[in-house]
Amino acid sequence: MDLELAGKSVIVTGGASNIGRAITLGFAREGANITIAELDTAQGEKVAQEALKLGAKNVQVIRTDVTNMDQVKAMTAAAIGKFGGIDALVNNVGWDDLKFFMQTTPDFWQKIVQINFIGMLNCTYCALEQMIKAGKGGSIISISSDASRQGEPREAVYGAMKAGVNSFMKTIAKENGRYGVRCNAVCPGVTIPEESDEVGSNSMWTDPNAMFTQEQFAAIAKSLPLRKLGRPKDLANAVVFLSSQSAAGHITGQVLSVSGGYSMIG
Ligand SMILES: NC(=O)c1ccc[n+]([C@@H]2O[C@H](COP(=O)([O-])OP(=O)(O)OC[C@H]3O[C@@H](n4cnc5c(N)ncnc54)[C@H](O)[C@@H]3O)[C@@H](O)[C@H]2O)c1
Repeated sequence: MDLELAGKSVIVTGGASNIGRAITLGFAREGANITIAELDTAQGEKVAQEALKLGAKNVQVIRTDVTNMDQVKAMTAAAIGKFGGIDALVNNVGWDDLKFFMQTTPDFWQKIVQINFIGMLNCTYCALEQMIKAGKGGSIISISSDASRQGEPREAVYGAMKAGVNSFMKTIAKENGRYGVRCNAVCPGVTIPEESDEVGSNSMWTDPNAMFTQEQFAAIAKSLPLRKLGRPKDLANAVVFLSSQSAAGHITGQVLSVSGGYSMIG
């Protein structure tokens, strides 16, 4: 199936590491023009080179802190300036540090809210403004988490923010369908890199064992219907499909779990 993403302008926030990296490379295989919005520009440039080798039409890396609206405005202007518009935005940036709620502090909550929720609002606002103005529709996908659907110990505030992401995406899907803009959320479960060089220095996965012990990884895999942990390309496949107007043009307002069957929502 031709996804008709060749030459389209796509933004991937956090597009240099793990899931974001796989999404960038997924769009590259389709021949898209890609803007990687990243704090980690060194890893971003490395992924940009890989993307060009895989067939991306063009790639730019823009240093962006998605929690800073001025920087997000500059990044979206750079995407519009270089690639003529924005056809798809993937809000992929997210962060957590696994702790029980009673071991966390208000400063920690603020950090979680800023990175997982406010950053997504900033990028969505700026991309939507351009999509509505251009009148050519578009796709916005936010990477949420199955923690938003399951209630995950040690992820209380993060899970709440990701549940907010799901709700927000449904509302903006309803508000902006009239402009041909489709808005969806994709929920990973535990998704680990295949190789250590697939993650950048800012990644939550620089030391996977700081997240879970090997025994915990094995127990998580065993508990899933598909008996395996997620890999970044599993998420990228879903995101690239949902971004395609020709493949997913009648899909909006959905929250899709890509998590080996961890969540099954009817
Ligand atoms: N990997 C998992 O197991 C998992 C599970 C559920 C949900 N998720 C979600 O998937 C998304 C990607 O996760 P990942 O594991 O690939 O993350 P990661 O930590 O490997 O990569 C995140 C990237 O975002 C960048 N980044 C962080 N803060 C930023 C900011 N303020 N502005 C710009 N860039 C910033 C980092 O530099 C890094 O390159 C996140 O939204 C995460 O919450 C991941």
